[in-house]
Amino acid sequence: MSLLPTLSIVCRLMLCVWCGALHNHYGVPRNTILHPNDLKVFREDNIFNYTTMQLRDDLGVVLIGAREAIFALDINNISTKKSWVYWPVTEVKQTDCTYKGKQAEVECRNYIRTLHTINDTTIYVCGTYAFSPVCDYLTFANGQLLLKGKPEEGKGKCPFDPFQRYSSLMVGSDLYSATSINFLGSEPVILRSSSSAALRSDFKYFWLNEPNFVFMDIVGESLDSPDGDDDKVYFIFSENAVEYDFYTKVKVSRVARVCKGDMGGQRTLQRKWTSFLKARLDCSLPEPSLPLIVQDVFLMKHNDWRKSVFYGIFTPQSGLSQVSAVCAYSISDIRNIFNEGKFKTRAAVESSQDKWVMYTGEVPVPRPGACINNVARKMGVNESRQLPDKTLQFVRDRPLMDDAVSPVTGRPLLLKKGPLLTRIVVDSVTALNQQTYHVMFIGTENGFIQKAVNYAGEMLIIEEIQVLESPEPVGILRLSSSKGQLYAGSDSSVIQMPVSNCGRYESCVDCVLSRDPYCAWDTSSEQCSRVHSLSSSSKNMVQSLEEGDVSECPAPDPVEAVDFHLVPGNNIQLPCRLHSNLAQAHWQFSDQTLEANNKYYIYSGGLLILNASESDAGLYTCDSVEQIGSRTFSRTIALYSVKTPPAPPVVAVSTPGTTMIKYSDYTHTNTLTTKTEEVMPSPLLPENRKDNGRVSHLEVAVGLLSLLCLCLFGAIFWFWGRKHLRCLRIVQTLGGGEGRRPSGEYIHSQNKTSETKLLEPKAGAVIANNNHSCVDFKVNGDNHLANISGLDGLGYICDESEI
Ligand SMILES: *[C@@H]1O[C@H](CO)[C@@H](O)[C@H](O)[C@H]1NC(C)=O
Ligand SMILES: *[C@@H]1O[C@H](CO)[C@@H](O)[C@H](O)[C@H]1NC(C)=O
Ligand SMILES: *[C@@H]1O[C@H](CO)[C@@H](O)[C@H](O)[C@H]1NC(C)=O
Ligand SMILES: *[C@@H]1O[C@H](CO)[C@@H](O)[C@H](O)[C@H]1NC(C)=O
Ligand SMILES: *[C@@H]1O[C@H](CO)[C@@H](O)[C@H](O)[C@H]1NC(C)=O
Repeated sequence: MSLLPTLSIVCRLMLCVWCGALHNHYGVPRNTILHPNDLKVFREDNIFNYTTMQLRDDLGVVLIGAREAIFALDINNISTKKSWVYWPVTEVKQTDCTYKGKQAEVECRNYIRTLHTINDTTIYVCGTYAFSPVCDYLTFANGQLLLKGKPEEGKGKCPFDPFQRYSSLMVGSDLYSATSINFLGSEPVILRSSSSAALRSDFKYFWLNEPNFVFMDIVGESLDSPDGDDDKVYFIFSENAVEYDFYTKVKVSRVARVCKGDMGGQRTLQRKWTSFLKARLDCSLPEPSLPLIVQDVFLMKHNDWRKSVFYGIFTPQSGLSQVSAVCAYSISDIRNIFNEGKFKTRAAVESSQDKWVMYTGEVPVPRPGACINNVARKMGVNESRQLPDKTLQFVRDRPLMDDAVSPVTGRPLLLKKGPLLTRIVVDSVTALNQQTYHVMFIGTENGFIQKAVNYAGEMLIIEEIQVLESPEPVGILRLSSSKGQLYAGSDSSVIQMPVSNCGRYESCVDCVLSRDPYCAWDTSSEQCSRVHSLSSSSKNMVQSLEEGDVSECPAPDPVEAVDFHLVPGNNIQLPCRLHSNLAQAHWQFSDQTLEANNKYYIYSGGLLILNASESDAGLYTCDSVEQIGSRTFSRTIALYSVKTPPAPPVVAVSTPGTTMIKYSDYTHTNTLTTKTEEVMPSPLLPENRKDNGRVSHLEVAVGLLSLLCLCLFGAIFWFWGRKHLRCLRIVQTLGGGEGRRPSGEYIHSQNKTSETKLLEPKAGAVIANNNHSCVDFKVNGDNHLANISGLDGLGYICDESEI
């Protein structure tokens, strides 16, 4: 029996590698910019953790909360510090904190986590204060920051633990906060601190189950509401799922909301939310995997709140996968689920395990969790304390909706392999064609900002910019759309950068092909410049975002051939620098396409001809070939006329192991320079060749092997399965994007030993349709180690009777 699980693991690993290889093309940024010179940086000696930020256009400052310090920086130039206050913990507090087992220099300090506007001059500020959160008032007047020094209890408003994610929001004079209310961090709450009606969430595990809060914001839904609805505060977090009856803890992403006018219940849910409802947020990769986990959210507000959109970034819940995704959700879809969707309820099952299924019984009126609206008012219910017990008991016991929220486009807007995404902001940009595009700025865990758009389903990362000096996570990201500036904070510094730097593109073709909605080529000034949507000079501007059409650009100067003299027996290096990471070099020699082989080595910087002979003389052309939208764009970057014999001998030294060659470096600025460079003798490394997502022989081999594995496995399973398994039916709901139940759902049998997972059928699923068994192989490598324990982790679905 032990053979089976082992085989399962091996095969799964192989499939994992194979799938990974197929998705190498995920999110390659078109341009990479390292440490641009238009960055402004702020850091202060011995101050760290610049991860709380508030933009105050009205005061002309950016407020930064760091460890034991708050700064007011000039919003136009954050390198200019206007004022700051130091807010350390007292020695007594720090000692207290260390007695409780926390580290003095790490946890027992005061990390500023909250900055909220109270009025024009007053700011509410909270810090972790040595695991004993405290809040206070801060004023900014006459260019000076001043701490009032009237500390208030911060429990529930600010986390104890500086490493814990949390979220808060000031609405009028009410502070909404989502954090843990105790020292151990084991009692999560969503709290409203208010002088009139303070409310909190219930401590039941199915309200909040080890949550990680990432975001909250208010949506003014009472505006023009035909049914007399209320404004709502939305929360986004991840937590342990109750709806999956699974062998390990599965985390899911959630959206929850409460009504602004909620006053709590009278007997049931006294001083607790009567309007707390939550639903799962789905964001699935094309390949099967455990649910992705939300890391950050940006609410793109629209004047008509019904058109507001939540943009979320999601990362895998285990370290084995490295694909992050961006999904967008419309407020209307979320509302529909809360307002009309079915509820989940706890099923009565024999096993001690909790099981949640769709509730099919009668739902009381007024609808549980609904805000006080016209329906309620008609029934004489003017506020939540007048709600009937039936409604309140229902929502207390069933806050989870049955339906999950699917992304607007049915799938992620962006997929990105490599360093995980950490923070997101989105700008709304009006392009030359008067269309509005949403440009995403996404921070990564290694200090980059990715600037991305989605043009009608096509994912494009316009550029990635290295903004932080060291490869540390972007811990906070803020956008000032009016100033066109981005602000990012990390543990070691704060940076400011413009949303675009069109001047980086020097030619019309480069400018147009960048497909950056902020930029267009100005034919009169011959510069790539910012688009000002309302300016009248737009007739001289060239921009083509979805097509990348350069036909309106003036014809570029023809590329001149550069002479090159070869020396038989030596290597020749012909440089050709492409203008895009997405382009491929296409080399021609006397009208004949060159393929990489043991003579020609094509690498990102050019062509290497090994052991040149006289027959290599002739004309070499390097074209840059790039897929732009639906078409292929090609342009000549360099031309070389390679000649024999050498007039003056150009080459020379050969030392064992290294060949010194001399070559002409022809760059696109038409300057001819001569350099000497070291070239390793055997650069034909296979891994260098597949940078653009081509699947190597190795990977194909692994893929075939895994298929073989599957077949073998299928056969074994067939024999085994005939005897032992109670089989299951695979319910495949292929929504095609519109389906109510997205793929990647888990199903389970009554019988714990044949617990399974339903996967998206296209990737890696092999259905052996032999009338007896079908195998749905769990390709996702996410938890193959977690379930070695028994056969229940094998990931089969088998059906004897149905197929
Ligand atoms: C604060 O920054 C320091 C230095 O980079 C880092 O080691 C520490 O983990 C950070 N603390 C928190 C709570 O993020
Ligand atoms: C920003 O402020 C710093 C420090 O005050 C100054 O050195 C720098 O020149 C300023 N940069 C700009 C563009 O004004
Ligand atoms: C701002 O709020 C603070 C604290 O509530 C109060 O003391 C102060 O008078 C207010 N200032 C103004 C200008 O309203
Ligand atoms: C609700 O408000 C309406 C009008 O404001 C009033 O007539 C009615 O008596 C109120 N009902 C209750 C139960 O307070
Ligand atoms: C270089 O090419 C010549 C013939 O063109 C051949 O005789 C020689 O062995 C080659 N040298 C190497 C190192 O491959």
